[in-house]
Amino acid sequence: MPAKIRKAVFPVAGMGTRFLPATKANPKEMLPIVDKPLIQYAAEEAVSAGITELIFVTGRNKRSIPDHFDKAYELERELEERGKTKLLEEVRGILPPGITCVYLRQAEALGLGHAVLCAEPIVGDEPFAVILADDMIAPKNGTTGLGEMVEVYNYHGCSVLGSERVPEDQTQKYGVVAAEASGERLWHVNGIVEKPAPEDAPSNIAVVGRYILTPHIFSKLAKTPRGAGGEIQLTDAIAQLLTEERVLAYEFEGKRYDCGDKLGYLVATVEYALKHPELKDGFADYLRNLDVDALM
Ligand code: UTP
Repeated sequence: MPAKIRKAVFPVAGMGTRFLPATKANPKEMLPIVDKPLIQYAAEEAVSAGITELIFVTGRNKRSIPDHFDKAYELERELEERGKTKLLEEVRGILPPGITCVYLRQAEALGLGHAVLCAEPIVGDEPFAVILADDMIAPKNGTTGLGEMVEVYNYHGCSVLGSERVPEDQTQKYGVVAAEASGERLWHVNGIVEKPAPEDAPSNIAVVGRYILTPHIFSKLAKTPRGAGGEIQLTDAIAQLLTEERVLAYEFEGKRYDCGDKLGYLVATVEYALKHPELKDGFADYLRNLDVDALM
C-alpha cells in the first residue's frame, strides 16, 4: 500500500478577477452555493476522502477563510440560547474533530504552481492532494471526486490528475493531456500543455481542479520558470514530473461545476438548490412557473 494521503493543499490566493467586484474584498472561495461557501464544500470533500490536515495558501483579503473554520464562541452561545439546535450543529460541524487547519500566505499571486510550492514546508516528503475550490465535483454514488482519486492512488501509487472531457473548442481554458487509455476512466499521461488552442490540443481530456501529487513535484516547481500569463504553472512542473514518474489522469464519475466562471456558478447554484432538502420543492415550483421571456 502506498503512503496514505493525509494532507490537502487549497490554493486560495488568486485574484478572482472574473467575479469582480464581488471578490474585491472577499475571496472567490467564500462565494456561497445556496448556503455553504465553496471552500466548505471543498474541505468536506477532502475530509470524506480521509484527509486530516487542510493547508490553505491564502493571499490578500483572505481573512474570512480562517474565520470561517475557526470556532465562533459568541455565535454558538447565541444559537444555543435561542434553542436553534440544528443550526448550532451545522456551525459546530464545519470542522469535524481531529482535523487540523494550517494557513500560509502567498505574498504575491505568482500562479497556481507557486502557490503549491509555498506549501512545501508543511507538506514535507509525502504525497498530497491539491483542491481548487472553485471547481465543484458532485459526489456520485456516495463517493466524492477526491475520494474516487484516492482509490485510484491507493491502487496505483502514483500521481493522479482529476480530469474531464471538454468540448473541443474549449481546450484553451484548461491544462490538456496527451494520454493513452490505461483502464476504465483512466489514462496514462505522456504529455501535458497549458491552455492549448483547439488546433494544438493533444486531446480533449482536460485537468480540472483536483490533483494527487508525489512530493517530487516540489523540486520540479522550484525549477519551473514563469510560463503562460507570467505565472509559475503547475502544469509545467507536472510536464517535468511525468518524464521521471508515472502520472495518471482519472475521469471523474461525478458532475463538475466550474464555479470560477459566472455561468458555471449559476448552474451549480440552481442544481444544488434543486437538491437541497428545504428548498427543492419550492424552488422547482418557481422554476416551472418562470416565464423566462417576460424577464428579458
Ligand atoms: P484561477 O486561474 O482561477 O485564477 O486560479 P483566479 O485568480 O482565482 O481567478 P480569475 O481567473 O482571476 O477569475 C486557479 C486556482 O489557483 C489559485 C486560485 O485561488 C484558484 O484556486 N491561485 C492562482 C493561487 O492560489 N495563487 C495564484 O497566484 C494564482
